[in-house]
Amino acid sequence: MPRPAPLRGIRPTASVEALLATPPATRGFSEEIRAGLMRAGQKELPSKYFYDEVGSALFEVICALPEYGLTRADERILRRHAVDIVSRLPSPSIVAELGSGSGRKTRWILEALSRRHPVTYHPIEISASALARCEKEMSAIAAVSVVGFERPYLDGLLAAAARRQEAECLLVLFLGSTIGNFDRSAGDEFLCQVRGMLRPGDALLLGADLVKPVPTMIAAYDDPLGVTAAFNLNLLARINRELDAQFDLALFQHVARYNEEHQRIEMHLRSRVAQVVPVGAWRDAVAFRPGETIWTENSHKYTPREIVALGERAGFRCDAQWLDQEWPFAQSLLVAG
Ligand code: TRP
Repeated sequence: MPRPAPLRGIRPTASVEALLATPPATRGFSEEIRAGLMRAGQKELPSKYFYDEVGSALFEVICALPEYGLTRADERILRRHAVDIVSRLPSPSIVAELGSGSGRKTRWILEALSRRHPVTYHPIEISASALARCEKEMSAIAAVSVVGFERPYLDGLLAAAARRQEAECLLVLFLGSTIGNFDRSAGDEFLCQVRGMLRPGDALLLGADLVKPVPTMIAAYDDPLGVTAAFNLNLLARINRELDAQFDLALFQHVARYNEEHQRIEMHLRSRVAQVVPVGAWRDAVAFRPGETIWTENSHKYTPREIVALGERAGFRCDAQWLDQEWPFAQSLLVAG
């Protein structure tokens, strides 16, 4: 079942001026939610809408859960190897980060780089609250100046790339295994689009969660405290808040399953009963059969070799790869060819 790619169809050739003159999409929410809930067959919701203020706060808690080793592994690699990572980049380099969140992991890279020269850091983030926190914390690092973009990834990257000086190399960070939230073909396409905005010698540091025993993967997305369940259900709560809908959250259940064929965790919200949910903003209602699900997210898992191949298909050469021993996770430094 193909999932829509979380892309907005921005081509590298689009005029930067035109893009920057356009405010970030605000009209899309209602239409996209409606299209996903009203479609015949498998209902779906776009995962980018997880990250409102409540969702972003819940995601921070997920990252602290013992069962969700991903974020700590991501950060451990950056902390241990930041000096090695930045030593592979030309001077001077600036940094753009796709989906910065709070920026906590990025600190290690910025500190290592800023020991060489002053650094400009462009966090690109659609959550206003996460972006504000990130900007505040990262601008406290000496010799780092922060210019954030509250935009989708590719719009933001285009804006960041357009601002850099001729001599500056651009390091793009795409951490937290967000690449895994794309279908494999959409992931390929996304990396090609990123590559299209870069110059030869620019680099992409790509964090990716690796395949591991199934019970470990399931527990990471279905924790016993129910934080991930709350994170998933918050999508319905957000639709209640913003579209005047009447989802009864107690009548939906968080489901995380592993799809062996596609090597991914799939997240759903399952209707426990037959029900019809009014949505005020549309003067309409959504009908559910008992057990019917809304597909909310995929999280693909990789092998280290798959990441190298993924990079190569998009026009990058893998310069180095660092693996975490405690929680299988890979950080790959992909250099634009
Ligand atoms: N990029 C994260 C991941 O796939 C996002 C995430 C973590 C997530 N837990 C989740 C998304 C639960 C939806 C539901 O690991």
